[in-house]
Amino acid sequence: MNLAEQACNIVFFGAMGDLTQRKLLPALYQLDSANLLPEDSQIFGLARDTSHEKAITKTEENLRKFIPEAEQSTSQLASFLDKIKFISFDFGDKNGYIELCGQLDQNPDSIRLFYYSTPASIYGQISENLDASGCLTPDSRVVLEKPIGHSFESSLEVNSAVAKHFDESQIYRIDHYLGKETVQNLIALRFANNLFGSQWNQNFISHIEITVAEKVGIEGRWGYFDKYGQLRDMLQNHLLQLLCLVAMDPPSDLSADAIRNEKVKVLKTLKTITDEMVDTHLVHGQYSAGAIGGQAVPGYLEEDGANTESSTETFVAIKAEVQNWRWAGVPFYIRTGKRMPEKLTQITVHFRQQPHYIFDPEQRALAENTLSIKVQPDEGISLQILSKDQGLNSGMKLQKAPLHLSFSDAFSMERVPDAYERLLLEAIKGNQNLFVRSDEIEHAWKWCDQIISHLEKMETPLAYPAGSWGPEKSYDMIAADKRQWHEQN
Ligand code: BG6
Repeated sequence: MNLAEQACNIVFFGAMGDLTQRKLLPALYQLDSANLLPEDSQIFGLARDTSHEKAITKTEENLRKFIPEAEQSTSQLASFLDKIKFISFDFGDKNGYIELCGQLDQNPDSIRLFYYSTPASIYGQISENLDASGCLTPDSRVVLEKPIGHSFESSLEVNSAVAKHFDESQIYRIDHYLGKETVQNLIALRFANNLFGSQWNQNFISHIEITVAEKVGIEGRWGYFDKYGQLRDMLQNHLLQLLCLVAMDPPSDLSADAIRNEKVKVLKTLKTITDEMVDTHLVHGQYSAGAIGGQAVPGYLEEDGANTESSTETFVAIKAEVQNWRWAGVPFYIRTGKRMPEKLTQITVHFRQQPHYIFDPEQRALAENTLSIKVQPDEGISLQILSKDQGLNSGMKLQKAPLHLSFSDAFSMERVPDAYERLLLEAIKGNQNLFVRSDEIEHAWKWCDQIISHLEKMETPLAYPAGSWGPEKSYDMIAADKRQWHEQN
């Protein structure tokens, strides 16, 4: 039987929270509109202290807000809302689970997808109650939102609490960056093109940059964010996943475990940042008041709900090293920050210069090829090529010109699906390729924990004005290696 054709019960824990309302339900609406949800699917939204009527009204309002207007249809919205049942639910009350269980499709072939959009600290409790109330069937799946834990130790607790009730093959740990079109494309780019595959190592590549810059600030989530900071919220998961996909060896096939095994090998070979390296390999910052696109914005400590003493970082830059044969001596400069001048997620691969240089000595610095992989916005790939300047008088002057592939132009997609649409669909189909295995999470935490322990000992984060690319020291870090961040699109 095609799994996607089995009827599916999707149960959201934390249904009125920001993520479910802003991302998950709009994503399901899109799947429903494209007829990608299995027939007879039912959606259950569990939230504390709400009634179905109140929740459905709020959800309709939010769907209209978060789905682009051109993609809304009144009849489609009505039919989608008809599939949702909201239940006022106390996550600690065992009877609630028994009642929930009675409302789920009792056909043994149907899929039960439990989506935990709650703090990870209660993932164990929910799993235990679901199990004890008889809600779990062999075809039940659980989707876990990040962050899984706060450190290596706490991630072990969360993973093992869930593992008592679900087999690893039933657990789908989300890193929504893995659902982005261009992130998936990294696998095709590297392993389907010999042009790149054959050059993808320390013989040909001098260094790699990964930038995940956000224009937004804290967006009303100060309390949550301040406990995590940019390193736990973004670097431990999204940036390390990008790094793994860029650095991993070719998997033997496209199966979930073949890909995950290679990613884990990369995480295990990340070089520990020792006390001696802190000054040259690690920069953290916190945004102060500034302006973005001409508009004044407050500093981190002036945001709503802020504790003005906080030393949580909103920016982090690291010079990372992957210690294996492929990458020996190739730094990975990675950085991520909030309130930067633009939203930009980009991987830039710098190829080494030719071994013997015969052109104008003044142009020497120009003479390297760079490959930029733009994850967002304007997804695409750009390869900077050196060619001769045109014209009779130009001699053998070099000029750099891009070979540019814009995914939206090349593949005439009407719209780029949101990462959550892809991830929800894959979870419904039972395909774990785009989800993270427990050991990936744990090794990522191990590497981050040692960095966090340095941050805790360091002075307060360096201030950088909102609307800038981070503290000056992040420029000094890369300039010390005679390099600079690549900020152009
Ligand atoms: C989330 C973080 O995982 O990713 C947020 O918790 C961040 O703090 C968001 O803003 C960024 O996602 P995207 O898809 O907008 O790059």
